[in-house]
This record gives sequence, C-alpha cells and structure tokens, in this order.
Amino acid sequence: MFWPEKMGYVILKDISKRFADGESGCRIVLDKLSLDIEQGDLVAVTGVSGTGKTTLLSILGTLVEPDSGTIATGGQVVDWHDAGRLCRLRNRQIGFVFQDSRLLPWLSAWQNILLPAYAEGGRPTPEMVHWAEKLVDIMDIGSVREQCPQTLSGGEKSRTALCRALVMRPGLLLADEPTGQLDAAHARDVAGLLQRVNRELGTTVVVATHDTELAQTARSIYRLENGKLNKES
Ligand SMILES: Nc1ncnc2c1ncn2[C@@H]1O[C@H](COP(=O)(O)OP(=O)(O)O)[C@@H](O)[C@H]1O
Ligand SMILES: [Mg+2]
Repeated sequence: MFWPEKMGYVILKDISKRFADGESGCRIVLDKLSLDIEQGDLVAVTGVSGTGKTTLLSILGTLVEPDSGTIATGGQVVDWHDAGRLCRLRNRQIGFVFQDSRLLPWLSAWQNILLPAYAEGGRPTPEMVHWAEKLVDIMDIGSVREQCPQTLSGGEKSRTALCRALVMRPGLLLADEPTGQLDAAHARDVAGLLQRVNRELGTTVVVATHDTELAQTARSIYRLENGKLNKES
C-alpha cells in the first residue's frame, strides 16, 4: 500500500490553554506544553478524566486555538487567521475519530465515510471511492455499509468513523478515546486497527486514552498531568 504524501509530523511549542471556570476564575488546562511528534509515530496520551486530553487533541487538530504557543504541522506553522487554509488542512491532512463517533444519523455508513470528499464542494474521485472501498474491506464493515449508524454496533460505528477519518488519506490521525464505549473484544479490534493504519499506511497516529491496554500498543506514551506532558516510554 502506498502513501503519496507524508505530512504527519507535528510540533507543539509552549502551548497554553485556559478556560473560564464558570465563576470568576479560570482553569489552566495546558501550561506551556511542548511536544514533537515524529512522522509515522504512534503516540498515546494518557491521563485521568479532565486533565485536558480532548483539549490537546483539538489543538493538534486545529479545531481549538491555544491562548499562546505555536503549532507546526506538515512543515508549516499554523496561521489561525487563515480560515480557508486551516479548513483545507483539516479536511485533507488530519483525520479525526471523536469519542462519540459523530456519524450523521441520516446517512448510511458508506455515505458517512465519503462525507469528507464532499466537504469542500467536491465529489469523490474514482480513486477516492476505490480507496474508501479498500478501507471498508480492511475494517471489515462491508456487510453493514448500507446501514444507518443507529443500526450499527459500537465497534461497527468506531470502524466506520475510522474509515471516514482515513478517506482523505490524512498524514495525521487523531483518535479521542476510541475504545471508550467498547467492550474488551471490540477495544482490541480498534487498537489493532490503529496499529495497522500506523504500520501499513505510515499514518502518524495520536490516541488519547485512559485505557492502559490501548496505551501500551503505542510507540511513545505520554501522561498529561498539571498541564504538562511527561514521557512514560
Ligand atoms: N469549552 C470549554 N469551556 C470550559 N471548560 C472546558 C472546555 N473544554 C474543556 N474544559 C475543561 O477543561 C478541562 C479539560 O477537559 P478535557 O480536555 O475534555 O479533558 P479530558 O479529555 O482529559 O477528560 C476540564 O476541566 C474541562 O471542564
Ligand atoms: Mg476527553
């Protein structure tokens, strides 16, 4: 399997993020956090609930702007004012798997998978359709691809969301608690798929998880605590 563009390395430098705490103060979630993610790495970010894993992934995916600090991906520093470019970067280079899958309920699994191809007003090319079919095959969801999300099992939804995240051949895949809702067997399936995507497709994978079994499958493991990342292995 070939990978035409490898844009999966990311550098975070002195990233800080705080949120209002609902009273008069604020909570510092990320505190001058720096991280280099190498091309083709498989990184796990662990930490108890509320430590900022989702916030970190959202910043990595350029969905949330940090209060300060810089992020460079694909060799370019992210310019938060260039909305059009950010949009293209997200759609073409970054695949997201959200904790709750976020599949559109009125579309079939197959239509959900092809959705990113329509996002910029385009249509899937024959190559994209071919690639999507290959992904469906790899993820073993061919028999359910015409079903709507509410009729899929948790594992099938996660695998559909993974296909959708990979359909644009992103250099970077971000997966937020992808096994959070799954039983042990399906959790192992998803862990295996992330490893396979990383190994066979060369995709850089960053997974946020409090599932130690999933974290152990990563090449680099970090623990998020008090706004900083500590490398565990
Ligand atoms: N949009 C927001 N507004 C206010 N507080 C937020 C927002 N997003 C996250 N937080 C707070 O930031 C902290 C980290 O949240 P999150 O990144 O979701 O942690 P995790 O994914 O590790 O559970 C939590 O205390 C949460 O309440
Ligand atoms: Mg979270």
